[in-house]
Amino acid sequence: MTDVEFNRLVHFLESRYGINLASKKVIVQGRLDNYLARQGYDNYGDYLNAVEHDRSGHELQNMLNILTTNHTYFWREPDHFIFLKDVILPWIVQKEKNTHDIRIWSGASSSGEEPYTIAMVVKEFLGLDYGKWDTTLLATDLSSEVLKYAMKGVYLKEKIEVLPPSWQRANFKKIDEFNYRVSDDIRNNVMFRKFNLMDAFPFRNRMHCVFLRNVMIYFSEDTKRNLINKIYDILEPGGYLIIGNTENIDKEATQLEYVRPSIFRKAL
Ligand SMILES: C[S@@+](CC[C@H](N)C(=O)[O-])C[C@H]1O[C@@H](n2cnc3c(N)ncnc32)[C@H](O)[C@@H]1O
Repeated sequence: MTDVEFNRLVHFLESRYGINLASKKVIVQGRLDNYLARQGYDNYGDYLNAVEHDRSGHELQNMLNILTTNHTYFWREPDHFIFLKDVILPWIVQKEKNTHDIRIWSGASSSGEEPYTIAMVVKEFLGLDYGKWDTTLLATDLSSEVLKYAMKGVYLKEKIEVLPPSWQRANFKKIDEFNYRVSDDIRNNVMFRKFNLMDAFPFRNRMHCVFLRNVMIYFSEDTKRNLINKIYDILEPGGYLIIGNTENIDKEATQLEYVRPSIFRKAL
């Protein structure tokens, strides 16, 4: 891949999806070379033309599936789930005692481990009242590949072993020696959709809590600022934003209040 072709690809991805891969040429080329060879492209120019002009969107989706980094796991950064249980959910339940509606969005859900962990925390928190609440949470991602995986809800045994044994028993069904499937009640509680965070947010109702963890690391400061402002607008007063532990938000650039590292809140 020539530098001109690489810059074209970088510009395309950043302008449409916020993802900045400018310093990742080796990784990008490593991931794409095989794909181009398999698909019979002679050079990157032809490939990029196909991505940019393919009306079916198929070639573009394949590229996103190849180039997005989807690493995730159950119970990742546990302090966030403990804060959800101890602080956020008690606040929501008090606030929505008449509507019984909990609105949580996992905005870069990858293969489902994060939203399913949230759903399990909500279920445990509500206990006997679980059935009385609308607990459906929204989980979105750019990659169709990970969303397909997430919707199936099938995970290797070792992936679920980080969860408490009682949660494993209550929320998973054994398929065979190696694979477990998320139970129907949890799976039906998570609505997976494809969504680009750079697009206008289409939500009718405001969110009580947004998880946006480990995705902004790929975004420029400007992109981050715009995204955080859009999230601010769709949060309920008092609503929370949770980002990854290694990420940060420029406090000057947002109206969100700092609660503790990686947790922010819209004023009540
Ligand atoms: C590293 S995973 C994070 C998964 C999970 N939030 C966690 O912390 O474990 C990042 C995800 O962000 C998604 N992503 C990247 N850019 C995006 C965008 N513009 N819109 C929506 N999702 C995006 C990727 O497809 C990937 O699945």
